[in-house]
Amino acid sequence: MGARSRFLPRRSCLAVPGSSDRFLTRAPGTDADMCFLDLEDAVAPSEKEPARAKVVTAVRELDWGDKVLCVRVNAWDTRWTYRDVIDVVGAAGPRLDEVMLPKVSTPAEVVALDLLLTQVEADAGLSRGHIGLEVQIETTLGLINVEAICTASPRIEAVVFGPADFAASMEMPVLTGGVEIPNYPGDHFHYVLAKILMAGRAAGIQVVDGPYLKVRDLEGLAAYCTRSATLGYDGKWALHPDQVAVVNEAFSPTQEQFERAVAILDAYRAATEGDGRGAVMFGEEMIDEASRKMAEKFVTRGTRAGRVRLPRAEPDGASPGG
Ligand code: GLV
Ligand code: MG
Repeated sequence: MGARSRFLPRRSCLAVPGSSDRFLTRAPGTDADMCFLDLEDAVAPSEKEPARAKVVTAVRELDWGDKVLCVRVNAWDTRWTYRDVIDVVGAAGPRLDEVMLPKVSTPAEVVALDLLLTQVEADAGLSRGHIGLEVQIETTLGLINVEAICTASPRIEAVVFGPADFAASMEMPVLTGGVEIPNYPGDHFHYVLAKILMAGRAAGIQVVDGPYLKVRDLEGLAAYCTRSATLGYDGKWALHPDQVAVVNEAFSPTQEQFERAVAILDAYRAATEGDGRGAVMFGEEMIDEASRKMAEKFVTRGTRAGRVRLPRAEPDGASPGG
């Protein structure tokens, strides 16, 4: 299911309004790991139907390189969802990797989409399960059901937090979602982020944080990214191409972290394979199997981000083989 894109990086996930020729044309040239062409909230009701054809043309005719390519359809509580799927997935061809379903509140919504996709794939000559799914958790009921939602279909590749709709669903007294609330003593979404992350990890899928709405505030974005990046999220949305570089940086290990993780793996491998020890000193620290798992995540993420181990300068006087 969704074999091509399941394990591709999703550090930055760029939202591209499906009704905007300008943004559609610009998106493939950005450094976003993933682009989703939006038919939902970035598209006005009067543009919903014409946007479908624009999205199909963009998927078929633009060069998306190896980005994860997704279409966000409208939620099941509208009248547009089924035609979004039939008209777009039915005509977009094999380059489309995924469909994103917003405002998922129950696992049944995922099952319904999975069944519809199976028919549309058969009719369009796509292999069964070609289209992966991303599910957005952005309602209170969705959060309550997040564990069942994340395992509702083998098509699911990622779960995504939607802070703006979630704030609305909670009836929080805020006018901008996905930014700090300075008068709240702590991170008002900490529980939500942690709960979604645990459900996603338990289901073996990627976990992505949603948008930061102050699109011109790149410093604020960088600071805000550290919340979900530190918890272990795979990436975050970008609402504008200018946000992509900041998000990519925040969700990539530094060169130093990458090098240290590679060295931990080397030391641990040498100890376990060489003299059969399960725990070994690494500098001042004891490392064991759990350290190996943590290090492996850094190496996987660093490799995805294009990091390689840099040659180390030989200490003065060292001779080859000495
Ligand atoms: C994204 O869809 C959000 O509601 O934050
Ligand atoms: Mg939303």
